[in-house]
Order: sequence, then C-alpha cells, then structure tokens
Amino acid sequence: MALNISKDILYAGVEDRDIDLFEGQYPVPDGITYNSYIIRDEQTAVIDGVDKHFTYEWMENIEELLDGKSPDYIVVHHMEPDHSASLEVFLRLYPEAKIVASAQAVKMAQNLFNKDISSRAVIVKEGDTLCLGTHTLRFIGAPMVHWPEVLVSFEESEKILFSADAFGKFGTFTDREDWACEAARYYFGIVGKFGAQVQALLKKVAALPVETICPLHGPVLREEIADCVALYNTWSSYAAERNGVVIAYASVYGATKALAEELARILGRKGQDHIELFDLARDDVTEALEGAFRSSKLVLASPTINGDVFPAVKAYIDALAAHNYQKRFVAFAESGMWAPCSAKRMAELLGGCKELEFAQSSVKMLGCPDEAVSAQLDKLAEEIVSRN
Ligand SMILES: Cc1cc2nc3c(=O)[nH]c(=O)nc-3n(C[C@H](O)[C@H](O)[C@H](O)COP(=O)(O)O)c2cc1C
Ligand SMILES: [Fe+2]
Ligand SMILES: [Fe+2]
Repeated sequence: MALNISKDILYAGVEDRDIDLFEGQYPVPDGITYNSYIIRDEQTAVIDGVDKHFTYEWMENIEELLDGKSPDYIVVHHMEPDHSASLEVFLRLYPEAKIVASAQAVKMAQNLFNKDISSRAVIVKEGDTLCLGTHTLRFIGAPMVHWPEVLVSFEESEKILFSADAFGKFGTFTDREDWACEAARYYFGIVGKFGAQVQALLKKVAALPVETICPLHGPVLREEIADCVALYNTWSSYAAERNGVVIAYASVYGATKALAEELARILGRKGQDHIELFDLARDDVTEALEGAFRSSKLVLASPTINGDVFPAVKAYIDALAAHNYQKRFVAFAESGMWAPCSAKRMAELLGGCKELEFAQSSVKMLGCPDEAVSAQLDKLAEEIVSRN
C-alpha cells in the first residue's frame, strides 16, 4: 500500500467518505480516516482498529498485508467505537491473538461487546513495553486525550509515536486541506476541553526522539512534526494562535447581520487581519468554535428574542463554555425592538469562563442600523484593533 510507514510498519486503515457527521455532530465534507497499522516482526502486532462499517475492509487489509499469517497482538490505544467496534470480529477471526490495552480499556470492551475479553488481554500501563523482536512499543499514559483509558506508545527502533487521537485530523488522504485547518477543528471539537491533559502528554513526548507520528485519524506526520507540536502546545495552553477576530452572529430580519458585516468592514479598514464572520444559524458551528479558539478576539452579536439571546447564539456560547473557552477578548452587540437585553444574557452565559476580558464598548441597536449605531461600531472597532 502506498501509505506504508516503513519496510516493517504498514498502513492497514480505511477512508470513510460516506460519513456526514463525525461523532454525530462535526460535519466532515471530506470524510475521515480510521488509521490502523501493522508491525511485522518475529511477532506481529496490529495497531488499533476501525469503525464498525469498515470492519471487513480492514480485515481484508490485514489478511493481504500479513499474507495470511495470523497476528499475535492487537494493540488498542483507545477503546472508542470509531476505532474499536471492529475488534469483536477481529478477536473472533484470530482466536490466538492477544489484545494489548490499558486495564480501563479492557473493562470498556466488556461494555462495548457485552463480553468479557480479559482472558485474552495483556494489560499494560505507562512504562510497560511490548517486544515484538527488533521492534519494541513503550506505553505512555494519555488519560483524557480524548477518553480516560487512552494510551499512546513509542516504537523505539523506528522512533514512531502512535499518538491515538492526538494529532488527528478530519479529511481523507486525497483532500488538499492544509493540516492545521482541519486538525484545529478536530482538536478543538474533540480534545480541546482537555488542554491540561494534552499539555501533560506533550511534556512526556518532548523527552522522546520522535521522528514519525502515526495518529488514529489523518496523515502520518514526519517533517512537519515540530510545527504540529508547536501548534498543539499553543492550542492546549489556550493561547491564541493569531491576532484575529471572529464575529459570530444570528439574525431574524437581517439587521444584526448587517451590523456584523459592517463591523467586519470597519475592522478591515482599520487594518485588522484574520476577520471571520459566522452566521450561527446557518454556518458550521464547529468552524466557528475553531475560529474562536484560534483567534484572540470574539464579537458576539445577537437580536433579543423574548427577553433572551437568539437560540443559535446561546448554543454557540454553551459550546464555547463546554470546551473551556478562556483567555480571550470578548465584545457584544445586541439588537431589539423595545428592550434589548441580549448582551447581558451573553455575558451571563460566559460567566463560568476563566480569564475573559470584556470590551469597554458595546453596540446596542434598536431595529435597524443608523448613525448612532455606526458611531458605536467605529468605537468598538477602534478598541478591538488596539488589542492583540
Ligand atoms: C420571536 C421574536 C421575539 C422577540 N423578542 C424581543 C424582545 O424580547 N425584546 C426586544 O427588544 N425585541 C424583541 N424582538 C425583536 C428583535 O429583537 C428585533 O426585531 C431585532 O432588531 C431583530 O434583529 P434582526 O433584524 O437581526 O433579526 C423579537 C423578535 C422576534 C422575532
Ligand atoms: Fe476518540
Ligand atoms: Fe478517534
């Protein structure tokens, strides 16, 4: 297969181009891959499985790559169904194979398959090794990157990090997306809430001479490792990657939309880079989430709806809070016909987020934009561009 890692380490994963929503909520227009690898040595190990819809394609890959030989081990770094739902068939077809996983992963397998697999398990934890001949996997704990049972492993002879969901990316191998864009949307959506745990993993990995990263989704990383690790360091510490503004709005009759677009124009005129506009009722909210985490500044603009914020804006703010949104500059714009109060509600909804700095200026609009609104927008834009 063209995607092989080395002479002895082969790619056995699959591309999923049929999926619409990853994890039931992230649109994946370019699909996603479920990566699996095989290490051929005196003993043979299959590294992780695939989504259940691709079980037989995966089994065929294994059969072909192993030339009919039975694998000795299946190493499971992460017992989430997108990787492990196919294990049940694997264990049935290869009754001699042992499953190498954390104690918690083995327990989870019982929940997933309603079957006790402990008699076939080799339980490993941080520091343990699995020697296959010339290849040795050393396991490293990575709890909550993305689930509690996660391990990653370092193959010592070829200096390969099998990184589980860390460094994963949406998309298949033929899409031309640059790595950071869809890797960021994946990171902030799936793993971003667990910045502290990602930082802990990065510290352990920094001590290793990693030359290749094999994640469970997306491309294998080599020359770009330093850049990707640097981005992961920025993202997981909740620092902004760039001086940029996300303007996230919703609108019933178009006035708030006009306001948001006008603010974007003024900001552009004043020299602000990286301005992104999102209509939260229509655009992919997971892109808007990614944008808010990558950029340093956020403007939330909402009409007042029955004394509250527009539902899609509320859902967005809830998602930000649920993903540990913090350390950012936030401004509000509200509209209403008789008693606008959505700005107050938006601030309340962000109340649990740490280290947010709120803009001094804000925008209040009654019904439609006028000169007074333009003046407020100009003042707000001035304050925004003066920030990094
Ligand atoms: C269902 C509904 C409920 C509303 N509730 C309020 C309200 O509680 N207070 C208020 O001042 N305006 C309320 N409005 C008026 C809108 O906030 C106002 O028309 C606003 O300018 C709409 O902005 P848009 O043109 O971006 O949709 C409501 C409008 C709708 C459609
Ligand atoms: Fe996962
Ligand atoms: Fe995954």
